[in-house]
Amino acid sequence: MDFKSIIRKKRDGFALTKEEIEFVAFSAANETVPDYQLSALLMAIFFNSLNEEETLWLTDAMARSGDMADLTGIDGIKGDKHSTGGVGDKTTLIVAPVVACCGVKMAKMSGRGLGHTGGTVDKLESIPGFKTSLETEEFVNIVNTCGLCIAGQSGRLCPADKKLYGLRDVTATVDNMPLIASSIMSKKLAGGADCIVLDVKCGSGAFMKNQESAKELAEKMVEIGRGAGKRIAALITDMDKPLGRYIGNSLEVVEAVETLKGNGPEDLSEICILLAAKLLELAGKGGFEECKTLAKSKIADGSALAKLAEMVKLQGGDENYIFDTELFPKAEYKREIIAEESGYVAAMDTEGVGSVCVALGAGRQKKEDSIDPSAGIILEKKTGDYVEKGDLLATLYCSDEALFAAAEKQYRKSVTFSAVKSDRIALLLEIVE
Ligand code: URA
Repeated sequence: MDFKSIIRKKRDGFALTKEEIEFVAFSAANETVPDYQLSALLMAIFFNSLNEEETLWLTDAMARSGDMADLTGIDGIKGDKHSTGGVGDKTTLIVAPVVACCGVKMAKMSGRGLGHTGGTVDKLESIPGFKTSLETEEFVNIVNTCGLCIAGQSGRLCPADKKLYGLRDVTATVDNMPLIASSIMSKKLAGGADCIVLDVKCGSGAFMKNQESAKELAEKMVEIGRGAGKRIAALITDMDKPLGRYIGNSLEVVEAVETLKGNGPEDLSEICILLAAKLLELAGKGGFEECKTLAKSKIADGSALAKLAEMVKLQGGDENYIFDTELFPKAEYKREIIAEESGYVAAMDTEGVGSVCVALGAGRQKKEDSIDPSAGIILEKKTGDYVEKGDLLATLYCSDEALFAAAEKQYRKSVTFSAVKSDRIALLLEIVE
């Protein structure tokens, strides 16, 4: 099969056949096609999309492009969670240990940062020694030992998605519904869990900017999951402002730890309980309200924090960083952003805030870029907060002072003020099951 003619066909708006899609997925997995051709095809898909059949074929081909995780060695019901991506979204670091403490095995495959959004794997790698690249046997052993393991797409799991994900990150082809649905669901199908909760983010910091498109994406993914025999539900949650106050890799681990200690910000704590409860409900642990109480109790008694530390140790990381987050190295430079006017924060261009974070070194501009684990932003004021001129709005952190001028300018552009307080947006917008 000829890759160039596949690019041309999609460029001209035609649907690809199952064989062509399989050829694309397997060429990506086996690296038998150059990045420039894959990137061209991704851009053609971005403009001309994939229909329902093409999306299903791509999901299936990517799931089969490597090994399917064999989790039969794990006793009991296995759960998984996945977010479509947001800014300050460190929910996995909280939800996974909470759920594991309730007796549902969390065999979780996570991703790296994508576009303006962060990724759990990059966050966990800010803990010295932490290994996200695990062979299936090691992964299964860790889940059996502590009930929880969070790994990256290592070895041979979904290599086609791994390749496309890396290219989408740096070719502005992330925010496309069929590409997101197939990327997430291929990993969920290859990952082998029985129950899956999806967190479909919606708003200025999400790939889906409005509730209708978020719902369409949620329905698409739930349908794919159900078709594959999974117990699956999607929560559509607000991402019109960053989640929590800390954005950046080690900064987000710190905020996740605080949340597991019961000291987390209200929005983050609430979303984590909702996601954990839905996953527990899918796993048969009780009704939604009952599962919320159960999830909260695992934070209140400290067991979820201990579970995260146990997982960190088993994955080669230094668990002292979980018990004492002061150990995380601080960024060399910081820049305080001071309010130049008084008023309410009316809105935040959350994608803009995420892009500032990437520009500071917390994400990648090119595929080869390395991550600066301590780069990021601590927010002092978010949408709805009142600000006096001279108040601290946010602090930017990075290792290269020269990055601050542009970052401060972009941050200021991302925040708008008003004399009147805007209405509070609900965190949970809808549940699709
Ligand atoms: N998360 C993924 O794994 N893939 C996407 O495309 C978006 C979010």
